[in-house]
Amino acid sequence: MSKTAELILEGRSYQLPIVEGTEKERAIDISSLRGESGYITLDEGYVNTGSCRSQITFIDGEKGILRYRGIPIEELAEKCSFVEVAHLIIMNKLPNREELKRFSEMLTANELLHEDIKYHFEGFPPNAHPMAILSSMINAGSCFYPELLTEMRSQFDVQAARLLSQVRTIAAFAYRKSRGLPIIYPKPDYRYTENFLHMMFSLPYNDIEMKREAVKALDLIFLLHADHEQNCSTSTVRMVASARSNLFASAAAGVCALWGSLHGGANQVVIEMLKEIHESGDDGSRFIEDAKNKSSGRRLMGFGHRVYKNYDPRAKILKKACDDLFAKLDRSDPLLDIAKRLEEAALKDSYFIERQLYPNVDFYSGIAMRALGIPVEMFTVIFAIGRMPGWIANYKEVMEDPNARISRPRQIYMGPTLNHFVPIDQR
Ligand code: ACO
Repeated sequence: MSKTAELILEGRSYQLPIVEGTEKERAIDISSLRGESGYITLDEGYVNTGSCRSQITFIDGEKGILRYRGIPIEELAEKCSFVEVAHLIIMNKLPNREELKRFSEMLTANELLHEDIKYHFEGFPPNAHPMAILSSMINAGSCFYPELLTEMRSQFDVQAARLLSQVRTIAAFAYRKSRGLPIIYPKPDYRYTENFLHMMFSLPYNDIEMKREAVKALDLIFLLHADHEQNCSTSTVRMVASARSNLFASAAAGVCALWGSLHGGANQVVIEMLKEIHESGDDGSRFIEDAKNKSSGRRLMGFGHRVYKNYDPRAKILKKACDDLFAKLDRSDPLLDIAKRLEEAALKDSYFIERQLYPNVDFYSGIAMRALGIPVEMFTVIFAIGRMPGWIANYKEVMEDPNARISRPRQIYMGPTLNHFVPIDQR
């Protein structure tokens, strides 16, 4: 017999179904509550609201667990490439050799932008933020592929491959444009991440020398960002998809949500914070005191997470990857030393302990990207490239759900009660 929860409201009892996930997460299904009782539930910021049932990613924030399609992030980070993980997330299957070949060929076949899209880049001012360019240009894709608007189901694989492949081309073009550099086209014989580095850093007369460690580190950064269940940007993608908007429009909305400094934009702000600490000669302790003081308006960026109340497993992997990368490139970065000192101090501080604030993925990702020569304004763009498989898979889940309805939360109105129009000269 299915389980229910009893809710008593004004002396009347309501039986609400309990839904249990495959990892024993439990939820009370309140969808019939308003119809039966007139009450809605209020959960500002969606702190305790499940917005969907999903089969893509599992997180246990208390234990610091993250799995894509059931596979622990640690195993994927050690053994897989980003493209394999993208296949896993989007197609719900780790690809065999033949499937991986086919998927990679589809990415290559779709890597070029429509030539006319290039003219759009010319309209942006020189210092435009690449996230603004990225979201605009992804959305512009809807103009060039009209089949997006009609043939969603039969064309999904091609559309997904096109978006996954072109996001990296657009991102590199946006960077070149912002620096006034000539655009470099992708090369079909390069793999996904190599190609991105080539488009970012090669010159028309000189290809960059591709360092294996650099390609591996960036591929890992993409992989670690590939999905993260119902965060702000993914929920945005699902929300837009629920209105039956096309894949490119939904992903462009995800980019806009990701840009914010409390979300993907945090990786850029972390570096700015570390630089400020470095330049001020502070050993980090003054900044930590400020971050604990609400009236300072500062936070320890790269710390804290809505879901993780333990060390973010991605941050753990990235911290080690940073150490390996610096050792292999025989380099050092004073910001890495400051970050480690900040982490050590925060993890001993009762303010952070009581609030369960630990480093999140953004704490070390910026330091790794700096080592790869990626400019700070591109950090959130890199996150967006990495997150694309998750957005595509979540979009697909919405589209394939026979019971999906448009997402439409309710509200508690707190404005004026009935009021009447006053003519302009009597106000
Ligand atoms: N530094 C100092 N205090 C913090 C921090 C921080 N980084 N994060 C949370 N707190 C404090 C809050 O002030 C609050 O204290 P209080 O209970 O005394 O009022 C408490 O911890 C809970 O914080 P909330 O803001 O309620 O937590 P929420 O779940 O809403 O926010 C968030 C999570 C946005 C990630 C927050 O921790 C934060 O702002 N972190 C810094 C920005 C950041 O790193 N963002 C990237 C997140 S990961 C990602 O998007 C990929």
